[in-house]
Amino acid sequence: MMPASLVQCALKHQTDTKVNCPGRLTERPCGITFTAVNELTADSMSRSYSMKPDKQGSGSCESFRFLSMKGMAAENPACSAQSQPPCSLSVSGVSYTVSDRIGPWWDLKSYRKKWTRQILNEVSFHVESGQIMGILGNSGSGKTTLLDAIAGRIGNTGTLTGEVYVNGTKLKQEQFQDCFSYVLQSDNLLSYLTVEETLTFTAQLALRQRSAMAIRKKVAAVMAELSLSHVACSVIGGRIFPGISGGERRRVSIASQLLQDPKVLLLDEPTTGLDSMTANQIVVLLAELARRDRIVIVTIHQPRSELFRIFSTIAIMSRGELVFCGQPEEMVDFFSRCGYECPEYCNPFDIYVDLTSVDTRCSEREAATYRRMHEITSAYQSSDIYQNMTWKIQESCRHSNKPMIPFKNKESPNCLSKLGVLLRRTVRNLSRDRMGILMRLSQNLIFGLFVAFFVMKLDNDITKGAVQDRIGVIYQSMGASPYTGMLNAVALFPALRAIADQESKDGLYQKWQMFLAYIIHILPFSIISVFIFSSFLYWTVGMNPDPWRFLCFTAVIMVPHIVGELLTLVLLGVVQDPNMVNSGMALLNIAGIMVGSGFLRGTQQMPVVFQWLSYLTFQKYGCELLIVTEFYGKNFTCSAAASNPAACFIKNGDTIIDQGYPGAPSRYTLDFLLLYTFLPLLVLLGVISFKIRDHLVRR
Ligand SMILES: Nc1ncnc2c1ncn2[C@@H]1O[C@H](COP(=O)(O)OP(=O)(O)OP(=O)(O)O)[C@@H](O)[C@H]1O
Ligand SMILES: [Mg+2]
Repeated sequence: MMPASLVQCALKHQTDTKVNCPGRLTERPCGITFTAVNELTADSMSRSYSMKPDKQGSGSCESFRFLSMKGMAAENPACSAQSQPPCSLSVSGVSYTVSDRIGPWWDLKSYRKKWTRQILNEVSFHVESGQIMGILGNSGSGKTTLLDAIAGRIGNTGTLTGEVYVNGTKLKQEQFQDCFSYVLQSDNLLSYLTVEETLTFTAQLALRQRSAMAIRKKVAAVMAELSLSHVACSVIGGRIFPGISGGERRRVSIASQLLQDPKVLLLDEPTTGLDSMTANQIVVLLAELARRDRIVIVTIHQPRSELFRIFSTIAIMSRGELVFCGQPEEMVDFFSRCGYECPEYCNPFDIYVDLTSVDTRCSEREAATYRRMHEITSAYQSSDIYQNMTWKIQESCRHSNKPMIPFKNKESPNCLSKLGVLLRRTVRNLSRDRMGILMRLSQNLIFGLFVAFFVMKLDNDITKGAVQDRIGVIYQSMGASPYTGMLNAVALFPALRAIADQESKDGLYQKWQMFLAYIIHILPFSIISVFIFSSFLYWTVGMNPDPWRFLCFTAVIMVPHIVGELLTLVLLGVVQDPNMVNSGMALLNIAGIMVGSGFLRGTQQMPVVFQWLSYLTFQKYGCELLIVTEFYGKNFTCSAAASNPAACFIKNGDTIIDQGYPGAPSRYTLDFLLLYTFLPLLVLLGVISFKIRDHLVRR
């Protein structure tokens, strides 16, 4: 019999949940019939549960049934689970261990020792389509690790054992991506796109051979399914400017996954950070999605008690072990039999998670709570619930004749189309970022203002700094341009990189494609920005007034600016922390200008090794080109000719070139070619770097 506490704990709550699609009949091995009566329409949000005997049930068997008052199941084929054979997901004996150092690196004694930590311990469960499974557990109990393990996205730092079966077929490593849609705890969305645009671009990345109309319909259907239609034209928003609410953002993340029609949806804490009403709505929505012939597995913290009946299966984790996994009614029964009755007017979720958590505040409490947790786990593993679950896993493996993987839509477009979509998406996002555009266009100009203000007008008199000032301007132009490129990349790219990390794991595209799209979309900005800078600086300080030389100056300065951005992107591919990339870039640039420019020390005076190294720096070719552009054929005046003839030793620019850069005018075209070779080389390096990132970023 059902314990009274269950009725008190769960049924006293009248749910205020949003249900617009009735569920299907799910047979349960034991219990009594719970009938969830869908009383309201899609937009009203109320449902009540009632208990009544199942007349059709045989013997002691009972069912948990959702009944629709409006008979919507017949109207909505998506809700009819009978139309397709059910799919199943079985997780069998999944364990994950990592080897960790005992102490921090500054405590050498303990740092040298290692210990093995079991993060997941023999976790097994079975879920079928139409069901929603809630995984509960205190922080650090292993919920996220379990989802990562199921989704095949666990880091390669530890050892993973156990099997994941889909429809009774054991998954191979390359098949995980085709089976699961995984909504991470954090929403990675582009702030300046609207909800509709976000989903449309995702659909374009995910679905091939679909007309614009078909994609529009698909997006509209998913938005309707997730109640996002009313915010379709609202921007996502971010930390700097407001957009849609947190709950809506969560739903956009879920909607992005639904576009691929996944049969299995995994969600890591989709309700964290939301108020309890919104959290409730999201879980009910997920239950609806599950009822439309999907498997939904969701980790959750502190759900409200009325959600108790929403979940088809509830699992509680503690210290990496599955302490309990069963239906809600079985749960109360199980804990009651273990001697832990759910007190009246209490949230069963809170009570059972507390009971199974290990309290580490003091060693006595830890030992006592750990013992209790173990007792409950042992009781569960010797219970009928556990035996029934293992039997289901074996049964599903025996009858592996159900629909095969892929479990989600994999008909993605070709590489070039994806690149086009990514490019359009980044351009659309940046085009609305006024500060981003202003920053891109004005950074070089602001720097030019500094230089121009400092130098004022270049003099032609050799004793009034005609040579030194010109070399100074060239040095600054070559030396500082990479920094402005670097600042742009560090400010704008990490957000895109986070999105690429996630979407590449979802199988939408490869990380390097996002890198390429980013480069292509920055090119016009880089060209315009450098052109504004050089037009201002060149003519304001009065450099060589030949228009061709001005164009050459601009063309040369363009390269360090773009190289700065490209090199930063290359580093961002393999280094996670943008601050480290900042420092690394600054050091590389300083080293490059020191070795390559020949300004700090003449190339001929440098040790041979540095002379060779200088050929690897773009600064060598850039500085040589700028020196020739400015000084070639230039004559200087000398006002001290009468008083100090030695000061007038340099009479023209050719002397400067001959002394510092012998033969440079004859290498002018070659230098240009070599300078511009750095761009494709860095693009190639970037692609390699983001390919390496695929292996580095597993979790
Ligand atoms: N690769 C790893 N190396 C070392 N420890 C790890 C690794 N992955 C997970 N852990 C540890 O395993 C434990 C479980 O982590 P996990 O993120 O799965 O917990 P969680 O239940 O999701 O917690 P929360 O509710 O706070 O999100 C944590 O103590 C975590 O530090
Ligand atoms: Mg977690």
